[in-house]
Amino acid sequence: MKTQVAIIGGGPAGLLLSQLLNKAGIATVVLERRSRDYVLGRIRAGVLEWGTAQMLREAGAGARMDAEGLIHDGCYLSSGDTLIHMNFAESCGRQVMVYGQTEVTRDLYAAQDAIGATILHEAEDVALHDLGSEAPYVTFTHGGEPRRLDCDYVAGCDGFHGVSRQTIPDTVRREFEKVYPFGWLGVLSQTPPAAEELIYANHERGFALASMRSPTLSRYYIQVPLSDRPEDWSDEAFWEELKRRLPADVAQSMRTGPSIEKSIAPLRSFVCEPMQWGRLFLCGDAAHIVPPTGAKGLNLAASDVHYLSSALIAAYGPGDRAPLARYSQDALARVWQAMRFSWSMTMLLHRFPEQSAFDRGVQVAQLEELAKYPAARKLLAQNYTGLPF
Ligand code: APR
Ligand code: PHB
Repeated sequence: MKTQVAIIGGGPAGLLLSQLLNKAGIATVVLERRSRDYVLGRIRAGVLEWGTAQMLREAGAGARMDAEGLIHDGCYLSSGDTLIHMNFAESCGRQVMVYGQTEVTRDLYAAQDAIGATILHEAEDVALHDLGSEAPYVTFTHGGEPRRLDCDYVAGCDGFHGVSRQTIPDTVRREFEKVYPFGWLGVLSQTPPAAEELIYANHERGFALASMRSPTLSRYYIQVPLSDRPEDWSDEAFWEELKRRLPADVAQSMRTGPSIEKSIAPLRSFVCEPMQWGRLFLCGDAAHIVPPTGAKGLNLAASDVHYLSSALIAAYGPGDRAPLARYSQDALARVWQAMRFSWSMTMLLHRFPEQSAFDRGVQVAQLEELAKYPAARKLLAQNYTGLPF
């Protein structure tokens, strides 16, 4: 088999890249280790920066998002029972789109099908070869048969546990990591959202988040110790703990119901440098992980895809290879901004096991700064709604 760009991984990063390249007349083949049903069964975050939403539209995958997504002008932070409103529209003139990542992935698959793109599911034993040459290739097993895909470039969009990043030699690759001493227990439930906008709650019992997928579907999270398992938490125990952490008036009026899904995710910040090596380019979770506190995971994947798709289009079209040569540099500058933001939101809003009275004092001061100063809210709003590409 032969193509122009081999894309490893059919998550949102791989699918969006494939879609944008195909639309520009560049041939791709996506190799995905799992089945489509498996990929579409994963529940992930749900806030799209305006730039991400715009990219989905440009990719021809934005119609359902525009029909069903919820446009939010702001969000709340809470400190005990006090709500602090972040008015994004007023602070920086921007908004966000609340639309589940699972739905984004579904829409991207539909858009890929509509243009007849090639996606091979259940592609096993993917290995990358000759990335330092002009003629790299990928080997894999499909339907029990060994296969070979020759290409000009390889895009490693295979998530944190993929093979692409590992292909960059240890002598070249640098990894930066911070692991947080807690996880998020998430619950999806067929109930109306607790408030009209998201609430990020700082409470002495730990962080909580009230989010949503639609006017009838809510998504909630509470900070839990890493030793907890989802089965340790009955629905009743979850709702009781969530209500204790949200402001009292929100807790009193919120509706609860059976959980549809319950899972625990650890929190981590991770960056791999460089994001390119020879003809390999990393995109999305393959190169970096953020804690979910700033809702940046999918949005960072989209910004990588923005830089990489435009660089490949410049290389294949006018023959300008400079943007491709600078891909890692361009993508990483924005990655580190999002790293800083999601780290600072995480540090601001959670209770840490060994938190000192001093550390707590700093959190309180920062929450007060946000409540008092428009300039502090503006900076948060600019980061939350997405820095420019
Ligand atoms: N070969 C082929 N495919 C692979 C391999 C492999 N060796 N390893 C992993 N994959 C696939 C996974 O099955 C998955 O479908 O790569 C895909 C990576 O998708 P994601 O993990 O969703 O990562 P990404 O597309 O970068 O999306 C980033 O989505 O995953 C969330 O939290 C993440 O919000 C972030 C955003
Ligand atoms: C979600 O709705 O799942 C969600 C929203 C905002 C976040 C994280 C997760 O910061």
